[in-house]
Amino acid sequence: MNPLDEVRSSWASLASEIHAADESILVELRSRFLGKKGEIPGLMRHLGSLPADEKPVYGAAVQALRQEVESTLDRLQEQLRATALKARLEGERLDLSLAGDRSEPGTLHPLWALRDEILDLFVGMGFEIADAPEIDTEWFNFSALNVPDDHPARDMQDTFFVQTEPGTESVVLRTQTSNYQIHAMQDQKPPFRLLHCGQVYRVDADATHAPMFCQVEGLVLDKGISFSHLKATIYTMVRALYGPEAVLRFRPSFFPFTEPSAEMDVSLGGDRWMEIGGCGMVHPNVLKNSGIDPEEFQGFAFGFGLDRMTMIRHGIKDISLLTAGDMRFLRQFKGLA
Ligand code: DAH
Repeated sequence: MNPLDEVRSSWASLASEIHAADESILVELRSRFLGKKGEIPGLMRHLGSLPADEKPVYGAAVQALRQEVESTLDRLQEQLRATALKARLEGERLDLSLAGDRSEPGTLHPLWALRDEILDLFVGMGFEIADAPEIDTEWFNFSALNVPDDHPARDMQDTFFVQTEPGTESVVLRTQTSNYQIHAMQDQKPPFRLLHCGQVYRVDADATHAPMFCQVEGLVLDKGISFSHLKATIYTMVRALYGPEAVLRFRPSFFPFTEPSAEMDVSLGGDRWMEIGGCGMVHPNVLKNSGIDPEEFQGFAFGFGLDRMTMIRHGIKDISLLTAGDMRFLRQFKGLA
């Protein structure tokens, strides 16, 4: 075998085995075949001793072998580098995921969604929204609203009284948002259209009564206000909330702070009515108690039970579900925003 064929075949047999080589083998092969004193430069050195007509063929053959060795070693080198990088990245992998505790995005409570809708509606009718205290004196909650001292509503069975020093003013958890009317009339002078929404408290609990619930209170004072303004306002709200098929019924009733007074029921069809609140024309005594001349200004007031209105809207049978915090109940209202 001539030297060229010898180098070729020793390369060929080595090349077939080195695909899983490590770096040091590649370095060794590179120096053995391509190094200054390596086999391929050695072959080139024979060139000078060959007859002139054989030189080109021989030279080209050695050159082809050199290229093959070079490109094979380069390719293997590149493969090694890629494998090493992959192994390093695998080794450095950090698990940044948290323990499997998926949080559910919250949504509005059905009562709060309805509250927002009602506030929007009344703002659209030119009402201003204001705040009032939940813990108040008996005077704001009852006396100033023309509720007589001996009225049964003041009885311990309906009202949560707050313990106070003997001889000081009596304080209650307000039983109604109507205390807001007095605060409003003390804070500003008519004409105005005002709305307030908040919690009230009563010693009361069954399927349609809760010891804590939410009311929406409205007060409109101006010159020349009549019961028809009141009716139109409430109808507008009921139609907007429950749709055109909802029917509103005014029942003559009594409240010490309005005259005449009515209670309002809503039906969504059939013979089932649910009371949503009370209303009426503001009693002259209430205006006088707040320093407003009843000859000059008249007005209407209303108070809705927001919990009841939520029950009608969603067909909820038990008021206590609204505050129970039961996720099986609350998840049904996921779409509310
Ligand atoms: N405050 C009354 C209640 O809690 C509801 C009410 C009735 C409010 C008539 C009013 C009103 O403003 O005019 O039962």
